[in-house]
Amino acid sequence: MLTVSKLSKVLPDGKPLLKEVSFEVGEGEMVGILGLSGVGKTVLLRCLNRLTEPDGGDVFLKYNGTVLDVAGWRDRELREIRRHFAMVFQSFNLVGRLTALENVLVGRLGCMSTLKGIVGRFSEEDKDAALSYLERLGVGHIAHRRAETLSGGEQQRVAFARARFQGCHVLLADEPVANLDPRTADEVMMQLAEITEAGGICTLAVMHQPDLVRKYCQRVLGIKDGVVVYDGKADLSDEDLDYIYDRKAADASKVA
Ligand SMILES: Nc1ncnc2c1ncn2[C@@H]1O[C@H](COP(=O)(O)OP(=O)(O)O)[C@@H](O)[C@H]1O
Ligand SMILES: [Mg+2]
Repeated sequence: MLTVSKLSKVLPDGKPLLKEVSFEVGEGEMVGILGLSGVGKTVLLRCLNRLTEPDGGDVFLKYNGTVLDVAGWRDRELREIRRHFAMVFQSFNLVGRLTALENVLVGRLGCMSTLKGIVGRFSEEDKDAALSYLERLGVGHIAHRRAETLSGGEQQRVAFARARFQGCHVLLADEPVANLDPRTADEVMMQLAEITEAGGICTLAVMHQPDLVRKYCQRVLGIKDGVVVYDGKADLSDEDLDYIYDRKAADASKVA
């Protein structure tokens, strides 16, 4: 569904951050992205929807018989591309003064600074559809509460409903459960796996919890020194993790 080929990004100081990163993600698949802080995981996600401009490489999105050449699209078409790539973050990123339902609705506008009045322009059908996404994620009952009054787990479910209502084909989740307690994190990851499988989409989830990755992802990409050093089953071994996180090296330097 998503094909990333030789994606490169050089930092403003000339240091290469991502060096010809290539991978594929299939429909219904959730891939965990692991790697040390600062390795470029967030930049990689942002290059996929061109919130950050890559310095080279190709990104193709295939859905319903259509192929989008993401890297080839011009500036004025970017808004159309970004509709296909929804982002969710550890900080949830809802508009606090809008209700849960309004947050889901404005997601389709592709613009977070939308004023409250605009919500009134949505049809009853849109509102019903947005509500049904909230209901499917078990948060229909809080549809009319302001986002700022919701718990973290509730806010992330609203963000998932917003992504689905937006009609995305790729869900880019940057540490989606980093700010949640372990039990809620597990439940939210289970829901992310469910909407990925059921929704005809694929999900890339930057994660720092290998156990949740093993439980809910189908595959893992390990990123180190700008390249993919692991692309395989999510059931990775402790040795795989040591390699991705350079842990043996860190231990050895401690001893030295
Ligand atoms: N706009 C930018 N300008 C300069 N450096 C940046 C920019 N965005 C990210 N970086 C740098 O790129 C590196 C990778 O960042 P990031 O992708 O956020 O890492 P992480 O893997 O922790 O998500 C960091 O060293 C960061 O400082
Ligand atoms: Mg990051």
